[in-house]
Amino acid sequence: MALTISSVHSDPQHFTTPCLGILLPALETPHALPQVLTSLDALTEGALSRLISAGDFRGKKDEVAIAYPAQGPTRILLVGIGATQDVDRTVLRRGAAIVARRTVGLRMPTSALWVPKLNDTPLLPQEIGQVLAEGVHHGAWQHDGRTDVPNDEQVVPLNECAILHQADDKDWDAGVVTGHAIGAGHTFARNLQMLPGNVCTPSHMATVATDLAKRHDISVTILDEADLRKEGMGALLAVGQGSEEGARLIVLEYRGADTNPIVLVGKGISFDTGGISLKPALNMEEMKFDMSGAAAVLGAFEALGRLRPNVHVVGIIPSAENMPSGRAVKPGDVITSHQGKTIEVINTDAEGRLVLADALSYAQRFTPMALVDAATLTGAIVIGLGHHASGVMGTDEAVLAGLESAGLRSGERVWRMPLWEEYREALKSDVADLKNTGGRPAGSITAAWFLREFVGDTPWAHIDIAGTAYTQNLDATQAKGPTGAGTRLFLEFVLSHTG
Ligand code: BES
Ligand code: MN
Ligand code: ZN
Repeated sequence: MALTISSVHSDPQHFTTPCLGILLPALETPHALPQVLTSLDALTEGALSRLISAGDFRGKKDEVAIAYPAQGPTRILLVGIGATQDVDRTVLRRGAAIVARRTVGLRMPTSALWVPKLNDTPLLPQEIGQVLAEGVHHGAWQHDGRTDVPNDEQVVPLNECAILHQADDKDWDAGVVTGHAIGAGHTFARNLQMLPGNVCTPSHMATVATDLAKRHDISVTILDEADLRKEGMGALLAVGQGSEEGARLIVLEYRGADTNPIVLVGKGISFDTGGISLKPALNMEEMKFDMSGAAAVLGAFEALGRLRPNVHVVGIIPSAENMPSGRAVKPGDVITSHQGKTIEVINTDAEGRLVLADALSYAQRFTPMALVDAATLTGAIVIGLGHHASGVMGTDEAVLAGLESAGLRSGERVWRMPLWEEYREALKSDVADLKNTGGRPAGSITAAWFLREFVGDTPWAHIDIAGTAYTQNLDATQAKGPTGAGTRLFLEFVLSHTG
């Protein structure tokens, strides 16, 4: 069962729940019960004042305490969010995620979340409702593929979370609806990312996109290999030619406004072995996540289908499996892209930029007002930025600034790198218009420069999510594995263009 999040007008003391999460800023006076908790403390016969006066909870960021009161909610989870003046969207989203992750840890299928009124906050009620709902989705996501698990260890999904709000506030309610849709899109992306490469093939992604489009009355076009040949998509076909799985180009169109569209492109390599330039065996299984850009696009469309905002968005996913075989593309091969430029393939492991080249060139037919791609493109971006930001590079100041601001709002931060002319040199080829690798220096930038060759004059930016798409480090807010990176970022960017 999928998670439902609702906005409920109720005081926490009048709402019956097995598990109530409360986000609390740092206590003004240590050991003293904050005023906002007085009524709940009375209902619970002093459970909260005992906990706080004992000094076991001060509201420090990420601090968690659990009370089991004799009356009222069966459990109360207090989660600290730190100094009031530092409470922003990210802090609240994080707090909500911690509550949700703890709730699933306690195997509770239903819960409630309450944030006592924040004093002097610049955040609008709509934003607070939204980020709380997003955070609940973020923290509740879990996956357990094991079939042989004792009953008492089986994963219990969170099915229902009521976000409590005392005032009848339409803006707050609307925020929860938005956050729930964005969170559902985010979860959709993570579930797709999680699928193994033998299940999540290019044709499977096409089926998923078709199903999504049907559910939400969005238009979808799938190009199979015969169509790709007719279109002249030589770069996408070259990457797919070593595999038994046929390549696909998936195109979604959500027409909520009569304007030029925002076009979102996502790298959809269902598995990246490196091809003939084979990757080392160590950690190669992580390359099932090489379709994370595609997952972000589909996750964004899942949310758009639920929200139906006034904006025109096209999604394009070039999808292939990168395999070595007797038919595979080889180093030294020269291929012809959709746009017509010839490419010398130096390294078959630089396949993402090849499939994206054809997708970016195909995107021109929509005359996009903005063209944005997300891709697990380079290991170099992980060296540059680690796991706390995605790299962003592009040709258009407004698109870049829009993504930076969407990054801050969504909590999926991006950091800009330069695309100076000098870096283009590295892609010069003796036998073709350009080669597909530029050597080790500035690997993320030369990869972006390669993409730039295929965008023409379209306002464009590229987001390298190789360091943010999945994580080996589980923490208080998320399980290890796929992060859905790009989904919320895309949505904040798109929603900022609604008219
Ligand atoms: N999918 C990889 C990039 C990647 C690396 C994603 C680590 C996630 C984590 C991409 O296709 C790739 O192999 N890039 C090469 C490019 C090189 C051959 C120029 C890389 O980064 O090593
Ligand atoms: Mn690769
Ligand atoms: Zn790849």
